[in-house]
Amino acid sequence: MEQSLIILKPDALQRGLVGPILTRLEARGLKFVGLKLMQISSELAHKHYGTHEGKPFFAGLVSYITSGPVLVVAVAGKDVIEIIRSTVGATNPVKAAPGTIRGDFGVNIGRNLIHASDSPENGTQEVALFFAKNELLTVERSVDQWITE
Ligand code: RTP
Ligand code: MG
Repeated sequence: MEQSLIILKPDALQRGLVGPILTRLEARGLKFVGLKLMQISSELAHKHYGTHEGKPFFAGLVSYITSGPVLVVAVAGKDVIEIIRSTVGATNPVKAAPGTIRGDFGVNIGRNLIHASDSPENGTQEVALFFAKNELLTVERSVDQWITE
């Protein structure tokens, strides 16, 4: 079992794309175990994107991710890291394949709509950074037997 953190970034909320993006993730069969609307502080942005500190785009990235409300989603399940990254598409929407979220809704790397954890280790860490334990549900869905063999 893996965990992944998804963030619908401020542009997704400003543009009214929460519904269309969540619909795709839900329709894929992913199980949401935590979900909340929040505004990311500068401190939290520095922790979350710490590996990018020092890169030329870092200041713009922090300013972007803290600029307005975001929706954070915790997902749990087998292979969710790879499944979500492929549904999201390449970092740069210019290169993202049609059919992916970034490939269908975005045109610019600095406004790429959505974050998704890039490894099982980072998924676990990022979910813990954004959600307290009591905000995460352990849910069984009766439909799971029709989604996973
Ligand atoms: P994310 O962490 O947001 O899911 O995106 P990612 O893994 O696909 O890409 P990553 O390399 O982790 O970059 C994090 C975010 O930084 C912004 N970025 N801007 N202007 C640039 O060259 C540039 N490169 C990266 C993007 O918002 C990217 O999602
Ligand atoms: Mg990343």
